[in-house]
Amino acid sequence: MNILEIITKKRDNQILTNEEIEYFVKGYTEGSIPDYQAASLLMAIYLNGMNEEETTNLTLSMAHSGDVLDLSNLGTVVDKHSTGGVGDKVTLILAPIIASLGVPVAKMSGRGLGFTGGTIDKLEAIPGYETNLSMEQFMQNVQNSKISLIGQTANLAPADKKLYALRDTIGCVENIPLIASSIMSKKIAAGASKIVIDVTCGNGAFMKDLEHAKQLSEMLIKIGKLAGKETVCVITNMEEPLGVSIGNSLEVIEAIQFLKGNMQEDVKDVVLTLGAHMLKLAKKSEDLEKNKQDMLTNIENGKALAKFKELVENQGGDVSYINTPEKFEKAKYILPVKATKSGYISSLPAQTVGEISRNLGAGRFKKEDGIEQNVGIVLAKKVGDEVNKGETIAYIHANSEQKAKQALEDLVQVYQYQSEKVIPLKSILS
Ligand code: URA
Repeated sequence: MNILEIITKKRDNQILTNEEIEYFVKGYTEGSIPDYQAASLLMAIYLNGMNEEETTNLTLSMAHSGDVLDLSNLGTVVDKHSTGGVGDKVTLILAPIIASLGVPVAKMSGRGLGFTGGTIDKLEAIPGYETNLSMEQFMQNVQNSKISLIGQTANLAPADKKLYALRDTIGCVENIPLIASSIMSKKIAAGASKIVIDVTCGNGAFMKDLEHAKQLSEMLIKIGKLAGKETVCVITNMEEPLGVSIGNSLEVIEAIQFLKGNMQEDVKDVVLTLGAHMLKLAKKSEDLEKNKQDMLTNIENGKALAKFKELVENQGGDVSYINTPEKFEKAKYILPVKATKSGYISSLPAQTVGEISRNLGAGRFKKEDGIEQNVGIVLAKKVGDEVNKGETIAYIHANSEQKAKQALEDLVQVYQYQSEKVIPLKSILS
């Protein structure tokens, strides 16, 4: 077997065997297959596709390219994953709610990618919070407190790290078998017994329309089944940003407000729907409505917020910031953005809002870039809201006057208006 034969086979639209896929994944991870040959095979896959069996074999080969964690002594661990979005602070809220109901949350999260945010960057906005724990400490925290949220410390799915970076540079990201195998390889390596996936859909997501989001969901569920990991997908709307804040400490503050009972409707819909499925998979109850009610009860009685504080304390964070979110350092410039017309807001594309937030310093252009934790955007108006010309529709948080002015100019143009009434966007699409 050699890599050239494998490339020509896929170029000619033939099905690859498990041995051929393993040969490729192993060779590329070890470095014996160079980038140009891997790129060629990825492009052939992008153009000609892969069937379910090939996609599952690719997933399992990538999952076993590094460590595979065994979390079985923690009980049924239900993992949650999002395919990425703007203003997505769901993990910060959902993880403590689920843990407060007695279901263990042992989760490894990522950093922001492109214009989308990442949970680890957000958690690091809490002074002192340590996202790098040893595996022993991670497991111990879950055993003692039912919760730990850390960055990817172990050598998990290194094949995916290399392949994802390569795909990003050769126009091969938006492909269902490649996205599905990338996500599921990491979830399998991270040791989850069951998985709930938030498949985002719309302007600010990889899947731009419902048809493709459904195809990706079906593929994720099939791979989960073949790999023995029960998987549920919920398709959520990422046409406009989720909630009102975009940016690291700003999103942490929104998450704290949520856990204190001040919930934005779209975030509430997504958190309750994903959480209800997680509780069902963990065998709390088959009844999704009851699960949602239990989650709301633990917000009302303060148990979810208490669990969040326990998480922060266990990981070295300063809990006084959770008690008094006003303590988070504010950006130097906070500029209001005014409506340029009267009417109803008809569009607020998530991707552009994410890009403006990244330009302010909330995200990275290169992997090595640093981020500014207190910059970003707070939305005062979203799709469906009625506004008068001159009314404040958002606030820019920036540490540089020039960046603040640029962001203001850009954000003014992002908001679209119409004179007829606009129905607010649905949060759960399927
Ligand atoms: N998220 C991933 O982890 N991988 C992809 O390929 C796309 C989104």
